[in-house]
This record gives sequence, structure tokens and C-alpha cells, in this order.
Amino acid sequence: MKDLYYIMMFNHLGNAKYCKKLIKNKHVMVNGKTCLDSHYQVQFDDDITVDYQKIKAQPFTYIMLNKPKGYICARYDQKYPCVNDLIDQKDCYCLGRLDKDTTGLLIMSDDPTLSKRLLLPQNHVSKKYFVTTQYPMNHQYIEAFKKGIIIDQNTLCLPSQLEIIDDYHGYVTLQEGKYHQIKKMFLSCQNEVVDLKRISFGQIQLDQQLKIGTYRYLTENEIKLLIKNRE
Ligand code: URA
Repeated sequence: MKDLYYIMMFNHLGNAKYCKKLIKNKHVMVNGKTCLDSHYQVQFDDDITVDYQKIKAQPFTYIMLNKPKGYICARYDQKYPCVNDLIDQKDCYCLGRLDKDTTGLLIMSDDPTLSKRLLLPQNHVSKKYFVTTQYPMNHQYIEAFKKGIIIDQNTLCLPSQLEIIDDYHGYVTLQEGKYHQIKKMFLSCQNEVVDLKRISFGQIQLDQQLKIGTYRYLTENEIKLLIKNRE
């Protein structure tokens, strides 16, 4: 939540002094009523107008990127291209990293309140991936994934879900994000991941229209779904 005058500044209406003056002089309405309090705490879905023109109640940027292979989830790197090179909003950071060779849905934002809490397993934000393997999968994997696979010799993963589509393709749904987790889970089954694509993050699905390497802003509804997870 942010002060009303700050949200107005974010909408490029002017500096703090000017925005406070607009509020004092009854130019600003919140949810249909004139608001005279510059420090009113704006809610995400408040309807704010200045001289009857709607302004954005949301001060942060939320992006959906369809990550290509070859890019690392960092703002800057000396060796590899970074996902931040693909977006114009350089202050945004990744919500959950994908490996350099993983493609698909990457949410990026400059909202500091989302941060790591969203990624904690106890918040149960599911991440779904489309997996292609080197060798045929078998139905024993499904039970093993459900029980929790051991990776890195002694690290037990939380239960996860595997849906086998055909011998070499399936969907894996995780509630956590350990380093190279899916690759290591398949290695524990004597198999290997040859291609990995994230297709959903919580209730947000990768937009099928979004070309690889391009991004779009999250819709209001998608932002609500994302923010819901941080409470
Ligand atoms: N698991 C992996 O192994 N890599 C990713 O990028 C994401 C999940």
C-alpha cells in the first residue's frame, strides 16, 4: 500500500507538493468519493480518478517473460546474456530462477514485498514444467515423485507430481525450487532431462501467444492471483 499522493506522482501528475494540492483542492476521488487525505493508503483495486480521469492504483511493474534458452536469471553477468537484457524495466528481478537452458514462464517484478516469501515451499506456490527426457519414463517414477525424491545424496525433495504424456514427455509440478531440482530428480531415476519449459507459476499460465524472448505486462487479474500468494 502507498500514500495517495505517491501514487499520483507515480502516474506522473507532478511533484509531491503539486499532488497534495490537487488532493486538497478536491480534484481527486477514491472509489467515487472525493478524498482529502494525501496519506490515504491506496489499495490495489481502488478506483482513483483525478479530474474524472482514471489513474493507475498500482505502483509496481509485473512482467511475464517467455524465457529463451541461453539467458541466465540475473540482472548482469560478464559472461552470459541476462533476462534483464530482454526487458525495458531494468529494476525488475526474477521471481524464482530458471536454469540457463530452461525456457518458458518467468515472472519479473520490482515489487519488493513479493520477494522470497512467495517462493517458500510453505506458501505452496506450484510451478509446472513440461519435461522431455533422454530415456523412456515409467510409471514407477510417478510414485517416487509423490513420495519425495532424494537428490544430492541426502536431500529429500517435497512430494511432487508427475504426469506422463508419452515415453519421453511429461508434466512435473513442484512446490519448491531447489537448484537444478527437476534435472536432479530425473538423474535420481537414472534418466536425464533434455528439455525443460515452465508453463505455470501459481495460478498464472504462460501466455501461448507470447513469442519466445518477448514479454508482456501481467493483467490486473494475474497480478491479483500473484499478490494473493504473499499474504
Ligand atoms: N528444475 C530444473 O532443473 N531447472 C529449472 O530451471 C527449473 C527447475
